[in-house]
Amino acid sequence: MATQGFTIWFTGLSGAGKTTLAKRVQKVLLKRGMNVELLDGDVVRTNLSKGLGFSKEDRDTNIRRIGFVASLLARNHAVCIAAAISPYQSIRDEVRGMHSHFVEVYTACSIDKLEERDTKGLYKKARAGEIKGFTGIDDPYEAPVNPEVFIDTETETIDDSTMKIVRHLEQRGLIPGDLSDDVSPEEEARIMDKLKALNFIG
Ligand code: ADX
Repeated sequence: MATQGFTIWFTGLSGAGKTTLAKRVQKVLLKRGMNVELLDGDVVRTNLSKGLGFSKEDRDTNIRRIGFVASLLARNHAVCIAAAISPYQSIRDEVRGMHSHFVEVYTACSIDKLEERDTKGLYKKARAGEIKGFTGIDDPYEAPVNPEVFIDTETETIDDSTMKIVRHLEQRGLIPGDLSDDVSPEEEARIMDKLKALNFIG
């Protein structure tokens, strides 16, 4: 169990890698024995936020709901990972204000790259006018001014980005460090030998 509950809040355009990274971080934290819940915008919109659309008002309601649930989990020593576009700074700040420990992760990616990837085919539809008010095309996205973690998903590998987030959590003391993540078995054996030679361990 995490000694300290907290929320990792992913924000970024559709297709920028929020869900992918959220799942990767979740996996690392689960392996470290923590209670982790993932609240993904696409999933939440099929239950908790079912029926909401993409007007500013509906998006704000969606984000407030996710933020509220995240804050309940976090105050009960769980780790909550939220992944929703969350395009408006003021609501993200409002959600931050509901938490004692909050980590905003901005997954940045250029529109050009997102249109090139277009895994769900939504950018094409938005450009064709088949989807109106699509974030980044004809609807606003307010990039975070001072996120705790900045990820450039255009240039960084998924592994690098995942570890960047995990390292931030370790440095903040939100999760304990884990030697096995960044030390090769050979290096670990060498360290253990040294500790034995110094009589630190038997
Ligand atoms: S948010 O703005 O309220 O934070 P959320 O993350 O829950 O959005 O949902 C975004 C997902 O809904 C996108 O990844 C995409 O699959 C889908 N979607 C459908 N219509 C839109 C739209 N107009 N703008 C952005 N995403 C849309």
